[in-house]
Amino acid sequence: MTVTPERVTPAVSLNHQRVSGEQDVNSAEAEEFLDLMFAEGAAEEGARFETRLARVRAEIAETGTYTHTPAELAFGARVAWRNSARCIGRLYWNSLRIRDRRKAAGAAAIADECVTHLRQATRAGRIRPTITIFAPDTPAAPGPRIHNEQLIRYAGYRFEDGSVLGDPRHAEFTERVRRLGWRPPERRGSFDVLPLLVEAVPGEPRLFTLPPDAVLEVPLTHPDHRWFAGLGLRWHAVPAISNMPLEIGGVTYPAAPFNGWYLGTEIGARNLADEQRYDLLPVIAELMGLDTASERTLWRDRALVELTLAVQHSFDAAGVTMADHHTESRRFLSHLDREERAGRRCPADWSWLVPPLSGGQTAVFHRYYDPPDPATRPAFLSPD
Ligand code: ARG
Repeated sequence: MTVTPERVTPAVSLNHQRVSGEQDVNSAEAEEFLDLMFAEGAAEEGARFETRLARVRAEIAETGTYTHTPAELAFGARVAWRNSARCIGRLYWNSLRIRDRRKAAGAAAIADECVTHLRQATRAGRIRPTITIFAPDTPAAPGPRIHNEQLIRYAGYRFEDGSVLGDPRHAEFTERVRRLGWRPPERRGSFDVLPLLVEAVPGEPRLFTLPPDAVLEVPLTHPDHRWFAGLGLRWHAVPAISNMPLEIGGVTYPAAPFNGWYLGTEIGARNLADEQRYDLLPVIAELMGLDTASERTLWRDRALVELTLAVQHSFDAAGVTMADHHTESRRFLSHLDREERAGRRCPADWSWLVPPLSGGQTAVFHRYYDPPDPATRPAFLSPD
């Protein structure tokens, strides 16, 4: 094979061998993807399957990989969403906005594009499902990595006695960025936004603070309980997952942050409620005047409803897109219908789809689903 000058990096040895451990794209996987795209009529006007496949094969033979066309990238990313068995919000898979940033080079440019992603996806609350796709892994060099679980997450500060201020889920990550030089705000709080940790060059992770105006947050209030606002709770408007590699036709994009909008229960019935997260149910039950001495008063359940209601109410009041679990469950069943009419399987994971509140009251509870196949592609892969 020949290596063109731009592809020579310090990671490529002088005799033009590829980096050990990095593999060539399997052309059968590329073919399977092109097959799917042409079968679904998603290819560009005038494109021919045989022509494109021959090109791709030649490119793989020459370079070990191939470059997706913008249409392939968009179709691949949308189908990866469609294939996400844990996602209840897949009705809109085909309207995912694609930001093709494969050319963004260097950690600073990548962090910058993440900020732009947040701004364009947030739109003061009219949230748009968006994905930004950075450079793929190639035999010559790995693509960039974003180490944050999501672009926006709250720090968790662990104290000697084991207690945590903030989000315990991110205590380890917080420790990691502090060791790398992140300085928490002077007055630490429960909702301090973590910096981005971007690794564009292997072994050189770099930190970037998100500008506050790129991070829309919603202060939480309750429609009936005045005291609720006094808790000083808040949550970020946009969930943007940033550590799941996107795999399309044998090519892996390790950094491809994507967002949808929140479902009220994710925040109200999990993030703020789980014992191993903000663990707020005892506090709220107390303020509601419930008897927390016995499980039989169902204080947890009553507090859970009010907390989730507060989240829903606050997002609505702030004009920030948020789904509720009843509506989203019905939409998911419409999605299943549509997929069936299109002649496709729709793999789904019951244990993720059924909301953590009032499961049996939602439509998704009362049926079984096609089990997910871990080999399905395109897909968002679990973080390494
Ligand atoms: N459950 C995660 C969180 O609370 C977000 C997962 C993605 N959710 C979504 N609605 N797209 O941050």
